[in-house]
Amino acid sequence: MTDDALRSLVVANKAIEAHNMVSFELIDPDGAELPAFSAGSHIDVTIQDGIVRQYSLCNSRSDRHRYRIGVWKDPNGRGGSRALHETVNVGDTMQVGPPRNRFRVPRNTRRVLLLARGIGVTPMLSIADDLKSQSIPFELHYVFALMSPDAFRGTIDGSNFAADTKYYLEDSRQNQLLDAAAVLAGQPEDTDLFICGADWWLDPIVKTATEKGFSEQRIHVERFTAKLGAAALDKVFDVKIASTGAVFKIPGDKTIAGFLEENGLKIPTSCEQGLCGTCKVKVLEGEVDHRDKRLSPQQRTEGFFLACVSRAKGDMLLLDL
Ligand code: FES
Repeated sequence: MTDDALRSLVVANKAIEAHNMVSFELIDPDGAELPAFSAGSHIDVTIQDGIVRQYSLCNSRSDRHRYRIGVWKDPNGRGGSRALHETVNVGDTMQVGPPRNRFRVPRNTRRVLLLARGIGVTPMLSIADDLKSQSIPFELHYVFALMSPDAFRGTIDGSNFAADTKYYLEDSRQNQLLDAAAVLAGQPEDTDLFICGADWWLDPIVKTATEKGFSEQRIHVERFTAKLGAAALDKVFDVKIASTGAVFKIPGDKTIAGFLEENGLKIPTSCEQGLCGTCKVKVLEGEVDHRDKRLSPQQRTEGFFLACVSRAKGDMLLLDL
């Protein structure tokens, strides 16, 4: 089996972490070791009918016989998380891809500040375990989402990083009991900030961190949802394919990746939210309306865009396909 191959793993345990969160423990059906992963990694999980979603690995990277993921049932989601909650049980099989990491702790990090809200705690569990094992100083500040009190608390309280963790409650979006500005203000200059949660929660904190002098390189963000534009209101534009000269008129309520696939031209996708980078394509002509949360300024300057969310500013994009 190549490293990129999907593998069938069996659900060895399914636990309710909160009324809207479950965790799954996945093992090889023959008990074999699984591909190693680094702290902060995620796996692609194929749910059904080709629906693929990404979930952070939340166990210790020293565990070689299991992957553990946490799944929040998103009431406004596209059905993937609900399907996992309602239809997958112990003994069932899941198709998963190899671990990948876009939330990696730098090798030379001196100290780390971990901020998480809700299901955003899942990658932090693996990262905190890893930092502890390497004796790298860190703090984990974890805000329980209003609807998910005490989620994963048993895991943390039983871990080797329980004493490094502070818990917070929230009454509403306006009444966070975590004073992020105060926490950020107290950090030494060489601190790496890792933050994971919903956009509305983390964006203001990232802004504060920037204002307090955290450089872009020291702010590491993992998002679970992206802000998607109101597609129905979007303008229509043309996409031209460089290799064939074919031109497609992209409707205002369709994404480029989605519309091209309907017309027989498949761009690989995974998250379909501008988060993972799977659908990256080079634009040869035309100005892009970037709507992703993934590409660096450098990648945009080099002409790349993410076809699952981004669109044209003008009338046409020429794609290197
Ligand atoms: Fe994930 Fe486009 S499919 S960014």
